[in-house]
Amino acid sequence: MIDVTHQVAVITGASRGLGAGIAARCLERGLRIAACARTQPALNGAAEQLLTVAADVTDHAAMTQFCEATVERFGRIDLWINNAGLLAPIGPLRDNDPAAFARHIEVNVVGVFNASQAFIRHLRARDGEGVLLNISSGAARSAYAGWSAYCAGKAAVDRMSESIALEEADSGLRVHAVAPGIIDTDMQAMIRDCTPEQFPRVQKFLDLKAKDGFSSPAFVADRLLELAFGPEGAKQPVAMSLPLEKG
Ligand SMILES: NC(=O)c1ccc[n+]([C@@H]2O[C@H](COP(=O)([O-])OP(=O)(O)OC[C@H]3O[C@@H](n4cnc5c(N)ncnc54)[C@H](OP(=O)(O)O)[C@@H]3O)[C@@H](O)[C@H]2O)c1
Repeated sequence: MIDVTHQVAVITGASRGLGAGIAARCLERGLRIAACARTQPALNGAAEQLLTVAADVTDHAAMTQFCEATVERFGRIDLWINNAGLLAPIGPLRDNDPAAFARHIEVNVVGVFNASQAFIRHLRARDGEGVLLNISSGAARSAYAGWSAYCAGKAAVDRMSESIALEEADSGLRVHAVAPGIIDTDMQAMIRDCTPEQFPRVQKFLDLKAKDGFSSPAFVADRLLELAFGPEGAKQPVAMSLPLEKG
């Protein structure tokens, strides 16, 4: 495994689920990390290695402050992982609550904009190299009935990432929109709770639970660190998918 002990990473949406698992694995691998969510992440680490902040990705000023606080604590940021995200509203678009749809786009798209802008400005100011990983989904690339907000939001993240890659080609930034596989989190529990009327493909996710076909957060974290800092990472396309842990 590559040595990442000198790297500094930021993870959004790190209070539970995939983000908390990525943060925990990064700490185990010796990175210094800053982690945020609306609920302050409860992670184990000394102040020299860990900064946790309660911040909402939809708050532009809060993302700027989170970025500044991280640089103040650790000196710089090498890797920024935009992981915070929502699935709701689920169900046919004709039934979606307009406020829930707007909130979805605010978190899953505007939140990625807010955090990406803070990181890009940091990199440009310090004239250094960095990697931006936006957590996407297979739903960015295939349509699912019942997930119109999620599919639209993640497709927007893919295109936003590709646009950033073009805009920052002359800087030291590399960006990927990464479909991480399927990980058993609160979001997956929400999917399994759907009726077939809300989400016609629910059985696929019930079957996956029955055979425990999930990738673990530690497996995803190791692949993300390899993508960011390993020798092959730069050869990957902007929009890409991680392999599954269990065939
Ligand atoms: N699980 C999967 O199989 C899977 C598959 C493909 C892609 N993904 C993507 O992976 C990411 C993580 O998903 P997950 O399954 O871990 O979801 P999750 O269990 O629902 O966790 C979501 C995380 O995002 C945080 N969050 C939500 N809204 C936020 C906001 N406005 N500001 C800051 N943080 C916020 C939550 O913390 P607070 O509630 O405390 O804010 C929580 O820490 C998402 O982008 C998701 O779309 C997941």
